[in-house]
Amino acid sequence: MNILLLGSGGREHALAWKLAQSSLLSGDTDTLYAAPGNPGIADHAELVSLDAGDHAAVAAFCAEKPIGLVVVGPEAPLVDGLGDALRAASIPVFGPNKAAAQLEGSKGFTKDLCQRASIPTAGYIRTTSYDQAVEALADFDPPYVLKADGLAAGKGVLIPETRDEAVAALEDMFGGQFGEASAEVVIEEFMQGEEASFFALTDGTAIMPFGSAQDHKRVGEGDTGPNTGGMGAYSPAPVLTPELEAAVMQRIIEPTVKTLAAEGMPYSGVLFAGLMLTDEGPKLIEYNARFGDPECQVLMTRLTSDLGEMMLACANGTLAQSAAAEFADETALTVVMAAEGYPATPKKGGHIDLGSAEADGAKVFHAGTKLADGQLTSSGGRVLNVTAKGRNVTEAKTAAYKAVDAINFSDGFCRRDIGWREVVREGS
Ligand code: AMP
Ligand code: GLY
Repeated sequence: MNILLLGSGGREHALAWKLAQSSLLSGDTDTLYAAPGNPGIADHAELVSLDAGDHAAVAAFCAEKPIGLVVVGPEAPLVDGLGDALRAASIPVFGPNKAAAQLEGSKGFTKDLCQRASIPTAGYIRTTSYDQAVEALADFDPPYVLKADGLAAGKGVLIPETRDEAVAALEDMFGGQFGEASAEVVIEEFMQGEEASFFALTDGTAIMPFGSAQDHKRVGEGDTGPNTGGMGAYSPAPVLTPELEAAVMQRIIEPTVKTLAAEGMPYSGVLFAGLMLTDEGPKLIEYNARFGDPECQVLMTRLTSDLGEMMLACANGTLAQSAAAEFADETALTVVMAAEGYPATPKKGGHIDLGSAEADGAKVFHAGTKLADGQLTSSGGRVLNVTAKGRNVTEAKTAAYKAVDAINFSDGFCRRDIGWREVVREGS
């Protein structure tokens, strides 16, 4: 069949690379299309220019080719209802409808769902009133966790240390700091613990665990500086033991899927749970309605099952008949190379020479790259995801940095400590 993949980041390069190996694309005329894609994705897919915000244009393209499966990489088109438009046209789609995508689109929606389904998470209030928010601070201890309700490109969470800073932050948020996204604010109890990511595929009824990872959100070494989309990740996350994964499935993922289905909003696609491993057990920080970026790159590097078949089973409601997903019993680690100045003011246009980075089995996924006069060039932001495998995090880290050091990207930088928590644990 033909498949259409939407997106242009490192996550989508990893998905394209894995989809290209699927039996769904094994026929001579089967084609993987990607819109808009990037130069790395172009190695596996035919790039097309399609605006994911134009639902009618996407549906028309799918009818013309015809497309047997649409894979939506990023969250925005899902929150915007692209899934509904494609399903209405009988086009199988990997990704939830608008109602279920509220799990990522509205933090308040998710907190209320947790309350209805008794899912462990931080205590909270949600409000559209600045005065009420300031008053509610009295019910919380510092540091204060303040969240814009809507999509804010991963920047909508502020954690001020003092009440005065919290009041100033609320003023900014209700003053439009995140546009419409902070017209409503969620204030949460601060949770202590280590963070981990857990993934599950679902067709609305059946659920398939899909691995774990740990990300490094801060831009600077030692987890310092501003938050980013993620500067590196590894999978699996050994801190999520099989016992903890079972608890996450039972107390968090299963009640989420069941409750959404019972309430007429079945969730189809990948559930990405951000978890805090607290002394009281794992608690949900947030849900995303998509794969993590760069977590997806390390999951796909380890996945040995047929990604296309599993995504199609999610889309068609036949996941119960699929065998469990299998992953290589190895660690994958990815280092993000970003453009100088990221995340505030990333430089654009620097030349990139990948050299012999992939010589020893490492894989370089493209994120913010473009071709300018035939030369691979940075388009800013997160630019490359240099990914390698090993028997543990320490080995995977060594292999990934060896590949990083083979790359010539003078306007780029990376953290040199991806995986540090596990490297310390593995050394002791
Ligand atoms: P989110 O976008 O909701 O994942 O939040 C971004 C980051 O803020 C998380 O990765 C955590 O590091 C932190 N965070 C969010 N909520 C809490 C919380 N209730 N307690 C402690 N840290 C939090
Ligand atoms: N790396 C975190 C995210 O994709 O949300």
